Amino acid sequence: MPTVTLLFTDIEGSTALWEQDGSRMSQALAAHDALARDAVETHHGQVVKTTGDGVHAVFDHALDALAATVDLQQALNDPAATSGVPLRVRCGLHKGMVERRDDDYFGSPVNRAARIMSAAHGGQVLLSRAVVDDVADKLPAEVALRDLGKVRLKDLATPEHVYQVMHPQLRPVSGTAFAGRHANNLPHLATAFIGRANELAELGRLLAGARALTLTGAGGSGKTRLSLQAAADALERFPDGAWLAELAPLADPGLVAQTVATVLGLKEERGRSIAQTLCEHVKDKQLLLLLDNCEHLLDGCAQLVDTLVRRCPGVRILASSRQALGIAGEQIYRVPSLTLPDRRQIATQQSVRPYESVQLFIDRALLVRTDFQVTDRNAPALASLCRQLDGIPSRDRAGGGASAHTFRRRDRPQTGPAFPPVDGGLADRTAAPSDTSFADRLELRPAAGAGETAVAAAVGVCRRVDPGSGGSSLRRRRPGR
Ligand SMILES: Nc1ncnc2c1ncn2[C@@H]1O[C@H](COP(=O)(O)OP(=O)(O)OP(=O)(O)O)[C@@H](O)[C@H]1O
Ligand SMILES: [Mg+2]
Repeated sequence: MPTVTLLFTDIEGSTALWEQDGSRMSQALAAHDALARDAVETHHGQVVKTTGDGVHAVFDHALDALAATVDLQQALNDPAATSGVPLRVRCGLHKGMVERRDDDYFGSPVNRAARIMSAAHGGQVLLSRAVVDDVADKLPAEVALRDLGKVRLKDLATPEHVYQVMHPQLRPVSGTAFAGRHANNLPHLATAFIGRANELAELGRLLAGARALTLTGAGGSGKTRLSLQAAADALERFPDGAWLAELAPLADPGLVAQTVATVLGLKEERGRSIAQTLCEHVKDKQLLLLLDNCEHLLDGCAQLVDTLVRRCPGVRILASSRQALGIAGEQIYRVPSLTLPDRRQIATQQSVRPYESVQLFIDRALLVRTDFQVTDRNAPALASLCRQLDGIPSRDRAGGGASAHTFRRRDRPQTGPAFPPVDGGLADRTAAPSDTSFADRLELRPAAGAGETAVAAAVGVCRRVDPGSGGSSLRRRRPGR
């Protein structure tokens, strides 16, 4: 399969342009297509197809693709070149192995290139990391790259690290780094999201209707993780983005509005409460606000959500809380357990695989032992473990801090290595060396001779890669004001 650089382009706001003056837009589009073809072919590329309001092209060399894109943007700077209709074109470049068939290209890099393009503003050129790795040391003198960090792209499991092409002749892009619907501060978690297809579909439906939606459930039942995924899936629907306010570390309910304001990049203004400033800022915006872990600040959260619901029609709130907020109009969704192997079914490696709780365990087990396998021998122990934990992803904090602490102390071996506290959930269970019988039955103990250090290291790995609801937040972007 050949490795190529893929270019996708698209005209920003083309629907409105067609509606304003269809016949002039038709001429402008013909001129645009000719300019695009010229830029591509001058730089040894090939137009695969025109896509209505843009082009899809391939190049053998990433540097040629970059040069063609910069040329195209420069040509489009002059509205006279497109029949007097100023066109702002978003461009995305990605490099990868593709399959070539019937003069077309297939494979995940093609989708990724199209998604990168869709995250761009009109006039902006975005490059994937793969392209940057190729061109970074041979950039033309006038071209520079701006690191925009990672962005979640619709339908793609892994976020993409994206760079913007800077050039004196390219018009600067104002506002957020990415086109509005991608603006967000959702954390990129290091571990895979497992299952929950039905829950996500239901939440998508509820989010379309409810102004305030609260995910409730016991500690560790997966509220935070599910709300983050639901928000990522719904990003396209919120032109002003999705913004997460993590309330777990907050002790004072009076600081909820302040915390949300800080997330949105707002500062206190003289003579106004921070809640007023916040409402004023978001009242005409269409954004999703995630309030994570509200249970210990119910009054503060209820007050803010109530105000936002009444005064800011385009704002939707997705809260996660062990207890509902208790305000009028709140839609409550109780997060169910992960699906569990049936007690009446004989547990084999094949029969246990479809269950979410098993999948979560396997995902985490592979972080501890890369050669971990579900076999007919360990499947019964695995099924039994999942059932004992009721399909709850993490029971670390279940029942409140004190009892969790007691549980850990009891569960810890009296002698032996000083392991970090042991959790009781699926997401963490792989790293529970105190429970030797389970570890043995699951064939999860580190290889013979690896010793206690290896076990402790495995525990550490598990904790580092998935710090839980706090998330491993990477880059945070502020919404434009
Ligand atoms: N569907 C899932 N896929 C992968 N990991 C998950 C999933 N659901 C939960 N987890 C993991 O399980 C752990 C607990 O989940 P989460 O933090 O979302 O629970 P919670 O209900 O918000 O808990 P709390 O009430 O303590 O805030 C986390 O490490 C999380 O990443
Ligand atoms: Mg949580």
